[in-house]
Amino acid sequence: MLSSIQIEKSVEYLQAQGFDAPEIGIVLGTGLGKLVDSIENPLLAHYNQIPSFPLATVEFHSGKLIYGNLGGKKVVVMQGRFHLYEGYDFIDITYPIRVMHALGITKLLVSNAAGAINLDMKKGDMMLIDDHINLQGGSPLAFKGVSEFGERFTDMSAPYDKKMNGILKELAKEKGVPLHEGVYASVVGPQLETRAEYRMLKIMGADAVGMSTVPEVIVANHLGLPVIAVSVLTDECDPDNLEPVNVPEIIEIAGKAEPLMVDLFKGLIERL
Ligand code: HPA
Repeated sequence: MLSSIQIEKSVEYLQAQGFDAPEIGIVLGTGLGKLVDSIENPLLAHYNQIPSFPLATVEFHSGKLIYGNLGGKKVVVMQGRFHLYEGYDFIDITYPIRVMHALGITKLLVSNAAGAINLDMKKGDMMLIDDHINLQGGSPLAFKGVSEFGERFTDMSAPYDKKMNGILKELAKEKGVPLHEGVYASVVGPQLETRAEYRMLKIMGADAVGMSTVPEVIVANHLGLPVIAVSVLTDECDPDNLEPVNVPEIIEIAGKAEPLMVDLFKGLIERL
């Protein structure tokens, strides 16, 4: 069960490390870690050092929170996120969002790597998430005592912030960066989808599929925290010509799109 005392302990530790009143929280997805190189005067806190944080797995020892200045604002960045497929539960994977909110953030920017279901979208393109479908079989709000933290029956009629979306679209246009807009479906993973599952996702109305983001966005909505999310499309999920998954290629393609995403996020922060 989640307790506010836990969150306070994490917050006290981070404040003592100098994480002073960040305005914006950022979650970086697979292959999208370079944004942190643009942060001025960075302070680091490894997840393993933060009291009450979910215990990081061995493969995930590099996860950290980074605090500093970006685009003229104080930001806190999650380099590495927690996934259900690593064996964490919904409360664990969204805990850092609650901590960043308790530190003071008033906006959340999220990124991820995703597969393109809509085949008008190509590998390496970016997609602004306009809406989502939760296929992870649970909710980060389904726990005893949730009302202590916010409205249990959280409204999801507009889960992504229209104002930030508008700014990002304007920026993309100005910079000549193609930016699709669409629906993201979240699955648990870690196995990739079958051809039949990709067909199902398309029929359902998904434009992209991935293994993260939706629980974080639900919690942001629970906290009344405006959120924006962008996918980098790393593979084309064509059920009629499906190629075996190539994880190194997924990471490589995310890495290639990364400078564009960093540029858009920086520009957005400057205008917030
Ligand atoms: N499916 C699920 N998650 C993903 C994919 C995919 O095709 N590509 C990148 N993350």
